[in-house]
Amino acid sequence: MPLAPTGDIINGAAHGVGAFNVVLLEQLEAVLAGAQQADLPVIVQISENAVAYRGALAPLAAAARAAVEEAAVPAALHLDHATRPDLVEEAVRLGFTSVMYDGAHLPWEENVARTREISRRCRDKGVWVEAELGEIGGKDGAHKPGVRTDPEEAARFVADSGVDALAVAVGTSHQMTERTARLDLDLIRDLRAAVPVPLVLHGSSGVDDNTLAAAVHAGMRKVNIATHLNTVFTAAARARLSAQPATVDPRRYLSPAREAMGHEVARLLRLLAGS
Ligand code: G3H
Ligand code: ZN
Repeated sequence: MPLAPTGDIINGAAHGVGAFNVVLLEQLEAVLAGAQQADLPVIVQISENAVAYRGALAPLAAAARAAVEEAAVPAALHLDHATRPDLVEEAVRLGFTSVMYDGAHLPWEENVARTREISRRCRDKGVWVEAELGEIGGKDGAHKPGVRTDPEEAARFVADSGVDALAVAVGTSHQMTERTARLDLDLIRDLRAAVPVPLVLHGSSGVDDNTLAAAVHAGMRKVNIATHLNTVFTAAARARLSAQPATVDPRRYLSPAREAMGHEVARLLRLLAGS
């Protein structure tokens, strides 16, 4: 089916929605296969880092659009952690349904001003905008698990910037390979009460199943997961290569990797949806 507006998926969900990052074609296929297994909507994410790896946004975006159009469940296409306004513009031109402008590293006034300008331009094109306040630790190797978003500041930031959703720091840290993060569920509830737009949990790979469900229950709506799926994908490829060390055809190890990731996407989507 055609790309689904991200806002429609988020606002139409009674619980949490999974947003999964893809770098490889097999990962894109896994996300959509998992969503179809679960029969639930999904958000496909391409990050600025993935664009740097691939060398350009357009080829991956074209593959994602084509795959989404073949899928039997609603799927949105999101540009994740964009720091470059020109990349946001390109994503809008390419038909992305949402973007995350990541100005969390900027001083407050600059973050607000840049995010407000991006929100204005995206709103004109019907593109949903997510921003971040209170830098979520771990990105680019800088571990700051103590960082938290203040509810009053978050409400002021949303009012001043005009964003459609807000990523908040509540105890997660990016790129965790163990699911040992301790979330501040009371803070999620306070943020939910103070902030009038959907809340987004980043760095969700470090969060175990029970805590993910509790975070959604407390008020998280969009849940971003990347590293955990890479772990599942790579473990399946590694197992195949270890069992068959003479393998040279990439399809031999990428296909079990894709299958394993697809099953995990389905499981996570059901967990987040409370089904
Ligand atoms: O924006 C993407 C996410 O925050 C993913 O973080 O790799 O720690 O799951 P993660
Ligand atoms: Zn993130």
